[in-house]
Amino acid sequence: MKFKDPSSYADLAQGRIKHILFRIHVDFPTRILEIEATYQMQEPVQGSLFLDSYKIDLREAHADSRALAWEFDDQDETLGGRLHLQGLDGESTFTLTFRTSPEARALQWLNANQTAGGTHPFLFSQCQAIHARSIFPCQDTPSVRFTYSAEVDVPQGLVAAMAAEQVGIDQGAGLDSTGFRFRMPQPIPSYLFAIAVGNLDFRELGPRTGVYAEPEIIESAAWEFAENETKMVEAEKLLGPYLWGRYDLLILPPSFPYGGMENPRLTFLTPTAILGTRGQTSLITHELAHAWTGNLVTNANWQDFWLNEGWTTYAEQRITEVLEGKDVAGLRSAFAEKQLIQIMQQIGMDSPLTCLKLPAERDADSFTTSIPYFKGCFFLQECEYAVGRERFDAFIQKYMARFQFQSLTTEAFLEFLKSELPEVFEKVNVHQWIYEPGLPAADAWHRPQSHLYDEVRQALDNYEQGIKPTKEQAQGWHRGQIFSFLQGLPHKIPVEDCQYFEQILDLEKRNDAGYYSFFYTTCVASGNQAALPRIEQFLGTVGRMLYILPIVRAMIEAEWSRAFVRPLFERVRDRHHQITIHAMEVLLKKAGL
Ligand code: BES
Ligand code: ZN
Repeated sequence: MKFKDPSSYADLAQGRIKHILFRIHVDFPTRILEIEATYQMQEPVQGSLFLDSYKIDLREAHADSRALAWEFDDQDETLGGRLHLQGLDGESTFTLTFRTSPEARALQWLNANQTAGGTHPFLFSQCQAIHARSIFPCQDTPSVRFTYSAEVDVPQGLVAAMAAEQVGIDQGAGLDSTGFRFRMPQPIPSYLFAIAVGNLDFRELGPRTGVYAEPEIIESAAWEFAENETKMVEAEKLLGPYLWGRYDLLILPPSFPYGGMENPRLTFLTPTAILGTRGQTSLITHELAHAWTGNLVTNANWQDFWLNEGWTTYAEQRITEVLEGKDVAGLRSAFAEKQLIQIMQQIGMDSPLTCLKLPAERDADSFTTSIPYFKGCFFLQECEYAVGRERFDAFIQKYMARFQFQSLTTEAFLEFLKSELPEVFEKVNVHQWIYEPGLPAADAWHRPQSHLYDEVRQALDNYEQGIKPTKEQAQGWHRGQIFSFLQGLPHKIPVEDCQYFEQILDLEKRNDAGYYSFFYTTCVASGNQAALPRIEQFLGTVGRMLYILPIVRAMIEAEWSRAFVRPLFERVRDRHHQITIHAMEVLLKKAGL
């Protein structure tokens, strides 16, 4: 191996996992998964095998009915404890019997009152970036791919869903349980392993598409995402054939920490995507595009995260252009540029976190800013401009075909780019985009142009001159324009203007958590103390980190709210996923709170 993944302890020198057969018993009362996993390696293993694991309670290890000895290294808070499996004697198969911890980072166990229906418990996983190891010992690096099959035993009345093909439903192991069988015949990296259990209903949307959700929201979900089949057709035109079989969605309870997670065949989605307007289409476009850029062709390492997210944002933009038109796509780009600059300024324009190739860092989740998304997308747009759309499109298809079901580094990508499109290197300063911080000078790249954005900019300039936009003016604004307006407001505004904007933008009626994320951030910075109870309500229901962390950051920054953050966080803590709790703790601790 040419590189070492700093987020993984696994030693690939001993061989790679090829296939895993899981038997999973889901135990809600103890919040534990009891698992028997049979691993098949690519090649026989002689001696030891080192695997990543996080708080796994290993009970038995066997190879060929011979018991194996094992040891765990000391537990590291970020990477977990390395499992050292001993005494393999040329076997390529072994079986582990273990339990996950109730504190498994990847899992969230919800009580019934945290779900839409309020009657059944719910479980879901989130493995990206390095949390699969808290469900099963593995080589938890995106550079290793394996196939799997699984039998999942759940209490009767509940449904198990996995990011895999469902191949059967039987009587479970116990009298009052149901067994769901799955297989994932395409090799995946560990971070794309996913499971959910709850009171789930299913609706077909098209021949290859459908949606899972709790019965209380299934109708609204089916309506909201009715256009998914059309999306797939467009995505295939750009990226090549869809190689995963079905494409379904799973709507999770609101504490899901992301907008969406591109689990193969089954995107996990925040319920805040259901707006009743079919307005949040770009989120689905993004997760769908990952079926190629990310899931089919995968970053080898979290330092190459832009290969996943930058490519996906680029594809998302291209598909948006076809489905929603150039104006909307242009508006999104212009908004993205403003966001990008703002985040870079927050982090520091010369921070290594603003480079596309990220520094070696153990805690891969700490990379998750929007920079690889937007800067990566703008870089790929520059490559497209350099050779023209036709040639770049041919390159995209070739790239997908050449690296399908493989993982690659930034360097391997650049080598391929150079061999296919050498002119890019003459016209674009590739080295600067990839390895240098910040952005190239404003006149050195095709910065986004958008008359829809300019309209909003005008309204913002007017506001700074003392002229507020009217309700009539704002009424016709596109969702992206409202975002741009809220994003572009001065950091601090008079409290009465907060109320005015909420009213003219109709925020309450639109009930879009994305708007409220910006709005509450401004309220906090502006000292709008009356908004505090509503902010608490928001932070206690919405889990999407992209929406809530900016508010928490603003609360830490503003003098008046600083003292409230820790107690507020403690009150809502139980409602959140471990990943969100961890991210909030990092922010609070950094601020000494
Ligand atoms: N793969 C990401 C989510 C992710 C990133 C999980 C890093 C863990 C570590 C997903 O595709 C994503 O980017 N989601 C975004 C929405 C997107 C439209 C920008 C989100 O969750 O906000
Ligand atoms: Zn993504």
